[in-house]
Amino acid sequence: MAIFNLGSINADLSYSVDAFPEPGETISAHSVSRGLGGKGTNMSVAAARAAAHVVHIGAVGRDGDWAIERLTEYGVDTRYITYGSTTGHAIIMVDRLGENAILIHSGANLEITESAIGAALGQSSTGDYFLAQNETNMQFEAASLAKKLGLTVVYAAAPFDVDAVQMMLPMIDILVLNQVEADQLQKATGKPPQDLGVAQVIITLGAKGCRWFNAETEVSKVFDAEPVKAVDTTGAGDTFTGFMVAGLDRGLPMEQALKLASRAGAIMVTRHGTADVIPDLKDIQDRFGP
Ligand code: RIB
Repeated sequence: MAIFNLGSINADLSYSVDAFPEPGETISAHSVSRGLGGKGTNMSVAAARAAAHVVHIGAVGRDGDWAIERLTEYGVDTRYITYGSTTGHAIIMVDRLGENAILIHSGANLEITESAIGAALGQSSTGDYFLAQNETNMQFEAASLAKKLGLTVVYAAAPFDVDAVQMMLPMIDILVLNQVEADQLQKATGKPPQDLGVAQVIITLGAKGCRWFNAETEVSKVFDAEPVKAVDTTGAGDTFTGFMVAGLDRGLPMEQALKLASRAGAIMVTRHGTADVIPDLKDIQDRFGP
C-alpha cells in the first residue's frame, strides 16, 4: 500500500528565543538553524520513517533541488514534485518552553498543478491513503480525485482555516486537528467536529495525548501521551499524523496506530528542528520498547 501526500515543502529557519516579541519590539535570537520542513514534508518524512511507501506531491522553486534531494535521501518518492517560482520557507521562533510561532511564505507550495496531481494519483490503487494539510493549493481537486479512486482521505486541518476545512469535509474519512482548531471549527459550524459527518476524528491534546472519535461505533477514547520534557514542539503534530497514517496503511488498528503516533510525537518534542530530526521506528523501540 502507499500514501500519496499533497504537501508543502519549506526551508525552515528556526530561531531560539527567550520569549516571542511584542508588536514593535526587537529581540535577539540565541541561535539559528536551517533545515527541511513544511507540514506536508514533515508528514511525508514521518510516514517514510515509519516504513511506509510515501509519494510526495508538491512543488519547489529552482532553488529547491536540495529539498528534493533530501526528501529522496529520507526515503520519500519525489517523482511528482514539480517546479514553481520560489521554494516556500518558514521563519520559526521557539521559546524557552518549546512553544513556537511560525511565519510562512508559501511560494511554489501554492503552484501545484492539476496535471501533477493526476499523474501521481494515476499511480495509486484502491485502498491507498491520500493525505493533505492546508499549506498547498489544489487540496479540494486532489482529494476529490483520490476519493473517486477509492483512497482513504486524511486531512490535517493546519494551518487552520475554517473555509478550507468546510470545503474538504465531504471528502474526509479521517480528520486530524488540535484542540484549538477543534474549538474554532465548532464555533464556525455550531457542531462538535465529531458531528460533522466525518467517519473518524482525532483531536490532538499536546502533553495530554489525543482523543479519537469513531463515528461508526460512536465510541470516543482518550490516549495518554508519553511523559517527556519538551524542548521544541515544532513538527510534533506533523510527526504524529505521518506515523498514524503509516500505521493505518500498514494495517494496524487505529488504537495501535495512535499509540505509535503518540510515541513518535513524544520523541519529536525532545528534539530541536523539523523534518531532519523526525524519529524512526528504531528510535521508538529503543525509547519505549516494543
Ligand atoms: O508544523 C511545522 C511546520 O510548519 C514547519 O516545518 C514549517 O515549515 C511550517 O510549515
